[in-house]
Amino acid sequence: MQFTTAPHLKKRASADAIFLPFWQKGGVAKPAASLEEFEHATKLPIATKDFKAKSGEIVQIFEKSPLEKRVFLLGLGKEESLSPENLRVSYAEVTKLCAKKGITKVNLLLPHVADLRGITLDAALKAIGEGLLLTNYDWTHATNTEDKKTLLKEIAFIGVLPKALTLLEEIKQIAEGVHLARDLINGNADSITPAYLAQSSISLSKRFPSIKLTLFDKEKILDHGLRLIYAVGRGAMHDPYFIQMSYQGNPRSKDHTAIIGKGITFDTGGINLKPSGSIETMRDDMSGAATVLAVMGIIAALGLKVNVTGVIPTCENAIGSKSFKPGDVYKSYLGKTVEIKDTDAEGRLILADALSYSAKNLSCTRMIDFATLTGSVVVALGDDMAGLFSNDDKLAELLLSASHSTNEPLWRLPLYSPYKESLKSDIADLKNVGGRPGGSIKAALFLEEFVGAISWAHIDIAGPAFSNKERGYLPKNGVGFGVRLMIEFFKQLSK
Ligand code: BES
Ligand code: ZN
Ligand code: ZN
Repeated sequence: MQFTTAPHLKKRASADAIFLPFWQKGGVAKPAASLEEFEHATKLPIATKDFKAKSGEIVQIFEKSPLEKRVFLLGLGKEESLSPENLRVSYAEVTKLCAKKGITKVNLLLPHVADLRGITLDAALKAIGEGLLLTNYDWTHATNTEDKKTLLKEIAFIGVLPKALTLLEEIKQIAEGVHLARDLINGNADSITPAYLAQSSISLSKRFPSIKLTLFDKEKILDHGLRLIYAVGRGAMHDPYFIQMSYQGNPRSKDHTAIIGKGITFDTGGINLKPSGSIETMRDDMSGAATVLAVMGIIAALGLKVNVTGVIPTCENAIGSKSFKPGDVYKSYLGKTVEIKDTDAEGRLILADALSYSAKNLSCTRMIDFATLTGSVVVALGDDMAGLFSNDDKLAELLLSASHSTNEPLWRLPLYSPYKESLKSDIADLKNVGGRPGGSIKAALFLEEFVGAISWAHIDIAGPAFSNKERGYLPKNGVGFGVRLMIEFFKQLSK
C-alpha cells in the first residue's frame, strides 16, 4: 500500500477514481470540503435526492474528469453525529466498492478540518485510515485465484500536508498486524500448528531484532515443569511449544507487561470430544496467540517506549491414545494439583502454567491474557463483546478506556469469589471445571489461582475473535480482535 498527500484538488495526480465527501443535512447532501471543479456536476444528484449522504452511501456521477476515470460521492452521515466509528464505517464502504469494481488507485478528498467538530484532524485521519485499511483484506480458503479480491494499492489523501504520512504509516503497520492475526486464525488448523506459531515468532524476531525470543519445545516444556501445557499437548501429532518474545522499549523503566495468548491450534475437546456444531470453528482457538504475535510485531515496528513480553503456550487439543484423561490429576507449574473433570476445559490449563511461569520468571509488573476461553462468555455477552476480568480496578479502567477508543467492546465481569467453591476437588487442589452456570467467571477464577499478587487482566474473546458475518470494516471469519486495543493501551501507557 502506498500513500501520498496533496494539499488540495488542483495538486492531485491521476487515479482510477476520486471520492468526494458529503455531510447529510436535513435529509440533503452538503459538500464536506471544497469541491472546486466538481461542484457543478454534483448539484443534480443532490437536488433530486438520488444521493442523500447517508453514512457509507456512495453514488457515481458521470462527470468527465481529466485525472480520474470515475467520480464518486461519499456520504459521511450527519455532521453532528460525527465520530471515529462513523468514519471507519463510512470509509470501509470505499474499500468495498473499489474491491467490487477492481479499482486499485484512488484519490480521496478529505472532509474539511474545521468541519470535524469534536474530534481532531489526527483522530479523524486515523479513523479514515482504519476504515480503509482494516477492510482492505482478503482471505480465500481455496487457492482458486479467480476468486481473489482486488485490493487497494495506492491512496492519495487530498487536503492534508505531507506530515500526515507519519500517522498514516503508523495505521498501515497496525492494519498489517491485524491482517497477520486474521491470516493465522483463518488458515487451516493442519497448517497453523504449534510449530507454525513458533516459526512465526522466529520470523518476527528476525525481522525485528528488538524482539528477543525464547522457545521451549516439548522436552523443554517438561524440563521446566510446565506440566499442564505438556498434558494438553501430548495427545497430538503436532508437538506443543512455549513461546516468549521479549521487547524492551523503555529500559530505564521497571514497568513491564506480559501479554499471554491462548494458542490451541485446534480444540477437538480431547477425550471429552466436542459435538458437531461446536467443533467446526475450533481452528480459531489460537486467536489469543494471534493477537499476541500481531501486537509484538506492531510494537516493534512502531518502536513503542514500553517493556512487553509476549507469551504463548501453544498445543493442539487432540483426541487419541496419547491424550490426557478425564479423572486424572496433573501437577501444575505452580505446584497446585488439578483434577481433570473435562479435557475440553484445556485453555485454562495451559494458561495456568503460562501465568504462573510469567509471574515467577519475567519480572513483569502486570499480566494481560487473551483467550477464546469459554462458550459461556458468548452466552453472557453475545458475539461482539469480550469479557474482561481483573484483580486491579486501575488496569481494568485503562483497558476499558482503550476499548472505547478502538471500538473493540469489553465488558467487565466479576471475579466473584464465592464461586471458587465450585472448583474444589476431593482428590486435588482444584478441578478444572465448576459447572455451567457462570462458566466464564469460574474459568477466570481458576486462572486467578495461578496469578498470585500481581496486577492481572483476563480477556475472554470467545465471542468476537471469529465472526460468521461481515460487519462494517470487520470481515467474516478471523477478526483480529484485541490487536488495536492493545496497541492503544500501550500507547497510553507510554505517554
Ligand atoms: N475453546 C473453547 C471455548 C470456545 C467456545 C471458544 C466457543 C470459541 C467459541 C474452550 O476450550 C472450551 O471448550 N470451553 C468449554 C469449557 C467447559 C468444558 C467447562 C466450554 O465453554 O464449553
Ligand atoms: Zn476446549
Ligand atoms: Zn479451547
